[in-house]
Amino acid sequence: MLYNDNPTLLGVQKTIDEKRQGEVLFKAAQETEAKDGNKKFYIESYGCQMNFSDSEIVASILGDNGFSPTRNPEIADLILINTCSIREKAEETVRKRLKIFESYKKQRQGMLVGVLGCMAERLKSKFLEEEKLVDMVVGPDSYRDLPNLIAGAEEGEKGVNVYLSREETYADINPVRLDTNGVTAFISIMRGCDNMCSFCVVPFTRGRERSRDLFSIVAEAKELFEKGYREVTLLGQNVDSYKWENPESKQIVTFDQLLEQVAQINADLRVRFSTSHPKDITDEVLFTMAKHENICKYIHLPVQSGNSRILKLMNRTYDRDWYMNKVRRIYEIMPDCAISSDMITGFCTETEEEHTETLTMMEFAKYSMSYMFFYSERPGTLAARKYKDDIPEEIKKRRLNEIVRLQNHISLQHNKKDIGKTFRVLIEGDSKKSDKDFKGRNTQNKMLVFPKKEGLKQGDYVTVTVHEVTSATLMGTVV
Ligand code: SAH
Ligand code: SF4
Ligand code: F3S
Repeated sequence: MLYNDNPTLLGVQKTIDEKRQGEVLFKAAQETEAKDGNKKFYIESYGCQMNFSDSEIVASILGDNGFSPTRNPEIADLILINTCSIREKAEETVRKRLKIFESYKKQRQGMLVGVLGCMAERLKSKFLEEEKLVDMVVGPDSYRDLPNLIAGAEEGEKGVNVYLSREETYADINPVRLDTNGVTAFISIMRGCDNMCSFCVVPFTRGRERSRDLFSIVAEAKELFEKGYREVTLLGQNVDSYKWENPESKQIVTFDQLLEQVAQINADLRVRFSTSHPKDITDEVLFTMAKHENICKYIHLPVQSGNSRILKLMNRTYDRDWYMNKVRRIYEIMPDCAISSDMITGFCTETEEEHTETLTMMEFAKYSMSYMFFYSERPGTLAARKYKDDIPEEIKKRRLNEIVRLQNHISLQHNKKDIGKTFRVLIEGDSKKSDKDFKGRNTQNKMLVFPKKEGLKQGDYVTVTVHEVTSATLMGTVV
């Protein structure tokens, strides 16, 4: 899943390789800002796509309760910060932002500040003690309670709701697309995670895994298509374990069946999904992908480490050989499928040789790209309780540099193979660098940049031939 340690405004998605600060559209905000009388909220999101998607649910709840979004925190009546706990750095960034919000709060009487998301869930009422400016602490399953908590805060009561639900999926809430190109959108299909990877805080901050009603997912995708969207990404911490029981027929719907249903909405609606846990992605999913042209040939399949002993300590439930077989299977069924990954360096007790196995795994799997991190111990996790965080930071960082360098090389090789090839590309908007160029992705999730042509617009499909590449982008022309 895409991940972001940096601030974003109004749910604007900013990925690590694609920082587009300042060039984003704030359509939703500007339109509603014009409406007089409404109280204004400002929301900033950190972390994974789930958090961005949740901010759109929050915006919808607030919209129904007399609030309009603003892009300017200084004039907001309510500042919300949707936080992430995945690594220590993510939490530090949030605390820095809170300092800045404190200065706004001093200047604007009655301004309220609320902390949402995973850090709220992890720290609970401790947040109120640690950060005096915070008026509300609201966990990921409690957003329906926001109007209530805001009303309390307006009366001077500090509120905390960090109840984790076994049922909440916000299925009935129609997300307000906060920053949107009008072409691509995220649809949350499940919440929580039951996997208990030993390094990971998510099961503690997001609670038990639960899947959303199939019909509400399909309806949301249909509505997006009717509004002109051409790509949906089905989101969950572990999408392949999607499992929903139809209350009437008692039939169990699995992820491959959900994919099939969404793919059938329209051949012009592209379907992506994230993230796949290697242990759960089935042949049925792979065959469904292969069968439908509009299901993108791209799988984010985080390996975390290439070494079996470390994988065991991480509680990933697969070993090196098992993962390699999964990769082989994917390429066997879909030779053109791109695979990407997440890797953690310097996990407890990782030796130099074990680290080398991560490097050889990267070469074997030929990842088109990866998100790479050094291990950051998270309080309360299994690893924090059982293992010593014993790899010095310089070594963690050196190993991280090595995998980053290798990934750049592998990505470049991967992209070079595309020179001369022709791809169907969905135009997402202007390229970062020039408004004379469009950008858009191919089925493998690779970004293409190409000169604009008369008559083409955002949301159109075009055929582009690639002439030149970097490790991150393919450059081409429309044919
Ligand atoms: N289920 C999601 C996980 C989201 S967290 C997924 O598989 O994509 C995204 C990534 O953050 C993880 O895959 C892992 O590589 C990294 N990560 C999680 N906990 C971490 C920690 N304690 N230190 C460093 N990286 C971590
Ligand atoms: Fe964390 Fe593992 Fe769940 Fe992903 S699958 S959210 S890494 S516990
Ligand atoms: Fe996502 Fe960060 Fe929470 S990665 S699930 S926002 S801890």
